[in-house]
Amino acid sequence: SKGEYRHYMLKEIFEQPEVLKRTLQGRISKHHVLEEAFGTEAKAIFDRVKGVQIVACGTSYHAGLVAKYWMESIAGIPCQVEVASEYRYRKVFVPDDTLFVTISQSGETADTLAALKEAKKSDYLASLVICNAPSSSLVRESDLVFMTHAGPEIGVASTKAFTTQLVALQLLTIALGRRHGLTEAIESDMVSALASLPEAVSKALLLDDVIKKTSEAFADKHHALFLGRGVEYPVAMEGALKLKEISYIHAESYPAGELKHGPLALVDSDMPIVAVAPNNELMEKLKSNLEEVQARGGKLFVFSDQADAFPNSNDVTVIDVHSVPETIAPMVYTIPLQLLSYHVAIVKGTDVDQPRNLAKSVTVE
Ligand code: F6R
Repeated sequence: SKGEYRHYMLKEIFEQPEVLKRTLQGRISKHHVLEEAFGTEAKAIFDRVKGVQIVACGTSYHAGLVAKYWMESIAGIPCQVEVASEYRYRKVFVPDDTLFVTISQSGETADTLAALKEAKKSDYLASLVICNAPSSSLVRESDLVFMTHAGPEIGVASTKAFTTQLVALQLLTIALGRRHGLTEAIESDMVSALASLPEAVSKALLLDDVIKKTSEAFADKHHALFLGRGVEYPVAMEGALKLKEISYIHAESYPAGELKHGPLALVDSDMPIVAVAPNNELMEKLKSNLEEVQARGGKLFVFSDQADAFPNSNDVTVIDVHSVPETIAPMVYTIPLQLLSYHVAIVKGTDVDQPRNLAKSVTVE
């Protein structure tokens, strides 16, 4: 039941501290990832992995895109990510010792399942599914299984499944990274950051009131741009998907550095620009991209822990996110973006839990 909440989506957004904690339970110790969480055969398989191919759809695909940044920068292994509906019909080159990873809330997405079946005919080392539905088809068909413990997700727009998938993918990054030079010290830092995630998400949820007010600025808008750089770019993609899904506002995401290669032409005072801007080595670059937007009359909504870097004005609204370790920033910054899409949908009066034309589980291609 929805309990005290007006919609399942809101309930599921607010369940995230709890389900993230559950997804971490028994999967980490004080300093380490417990890789048995990926199955008893995981160790022998992980020892051989030299690369990762991720396949998924929609929100789960965005989780995969975040993981690519982690795999290559933290684990030091190559990682490809593709939407299942493309992957399954393409002749694919499979490098030696590649792990095939699917990500799916439902475990029943037709294209993802078909991609796995194709992959099983190719020369992959093994298959792993990150899934939220225990007795689903993807779970049955995969060699290794990592269950997210998000609990049933009723709202059509995926929320808590996404953040638990990110946790699973970060655990996988660490488990594989260990074999490729990831130090105990870094593992320990990442594990303690993960242990702090439920608390960090609880804090991010306190932004609800501020975001509710901010959402009014989107009520009469028909388009929005979502910008990020680095690992926050796929977070921006997910923010845009949420907004278009439930509020029907056309939202597009761009890596901020691409703006001047085209989309800047769209910017005027009717185009809200949402920026995911945690303080990291790319923030200064992002900041100068945003100044270009501002110079063209764009209205900025900046989610950042560096409010000072983005002075509030008529054209700039800063949503002050608390500082968190960089490795958990993608999960934490997802929360206010989920809340933004929810409140914009409420302002617009759309059907939050059952957006038009969409089904929760896409079992046909
Ligand atoms: C978006 C959404 C969809 C799903 C996609 C994959 O909010 O829910 O984009 O993420 O249909 O579904 P699963 O993860 O069940 O394979």
